[in-house]
Amino acid sequence: MSLVSPSIESLLPYEGGKPIEELARELGISDAIKLASNENALGPSPKALAAARAALSDVHRYPDATAYKLRERIAAEHGVPMGHVIQGNGSNELLDLAVRTFCTSEHHIVLAEPAFVVYKIAALAHGVPFTAVPVVDLTHDLDAMLAAVTPRTRLLFVGNPNNPTGTYVGLEPLRRFLRALPEEVIVLMDEAYIEYATAADFPDCMTLRNEHERMIVCRTFSKIYGLAALRVGYGISTPQLIGYMNRVRAPFNVGTLGQVAAIAALDDSEHVRTCRELNARERERVSERLRAMGLSVTPSQANFILVDVERSARLTYDALLRKGVIVRPFASLPTSLRVTIGKVAENDRFLQALGEVLS
Ligand SMILES: Cc1ncc(COP(=O)(O)O)c(C=O)c1O
Repeated sequence: MSLVSPSIESLLPYEGGKPIEELARELGISDAIKLASNENALGPSPKALAAARAALSDVHRYPDATAYKLRERIAAEHGVPMGHVIQGNGSNELLDLAVRTFCTSEHHIVLAEPAFVVYKIAALAHGVPFTAVPVVDLTHDLDAMLAAVTPRTRLLFVGNPNNPTGTYVGLEPLRRFLRALPEEVIVLMDEAYIEYATAADFPDCMTLRNEHERMIVCRTFSKIYGLAALRVGYGISTPQLIGYMNRVRAPFNVGTLGQVAAIAALDDSEHVRTCRELNARERERVSERLRAMGLSVTPSQANFILVDVERSARLTYDALLRKGVIVRPFASLPTSLRVTIGKVAENDRFLQALGEVLS
């Protein structure tokens, strides 16, 4: 008899971008660059680092289990009461927590394909049936997602911008969708990359919360705030939903260094603006250069782009690895690579390496 459920049996462990140290170990390449995990190439605000350093002397104490000051700061940032905010060990924990809290095997989840793989992992891990709705033009097909909702549907994931495509759903289509969604369905808006978005019609779900009461907006300090290693994310929803998630949440889920660094990161809006502007410029420049090489690039609102290399993405990925450039292939996109926008010199190195690999 199997030790685990069939859905856990079918799971493969989450595979992140290849670490630089691993490439050094495997191929002896010492100066590799990593454009594979959508991290912020500029790193965090120096103020966030200083806050984390100053908190080091307290690490023998457990963190504030309620993350009071962090939630207070997040609440002020978004103009919501503190009871609407939950902290997460990365937003990843909250994606999983939403499934664990609200869904059983009697329920059903709707998600897009391809989208952030953790939605699917969470559904499988907790034995919740799901429907993966294929994207259209690499963008969420909101009409098809609505059509996939059944009386059992409890949770629906929308990544905006979506990962790995970088595409987005605009304000008006999203508003119509939220209004049309049956009120019992909880929509989880995953806005991990929202701070990088620059499109005029890009929706901010904080302002759409009264279109659909059962909404959880998830954000993270891992992307533009540059604190991926400290594992801090947050969710904003109604006190009722937040209250249920808090019953299930692990105690002390965000460490002290993460809490203080995240507050300082929020306080440094200048750093965020610098990162957003550099990313937007480089996203445009890299996309144009790739198009000039004859490749098709999906327009992106995030800090990564998806480029169709029109041949095996896996082999191209391997060839780039040997040149010390780590990008990200996806089994569901056999001829495309996802490339994180890095610093100017890193992007140049990627463009040069890809040019050599393709020629
Ligand atoms: C779309 C999306 N959501 C959520 C996450 C989770 O990030 P974290 O747990 O670091 O907040 C990621 C990470 O890559 C992501 O791409």
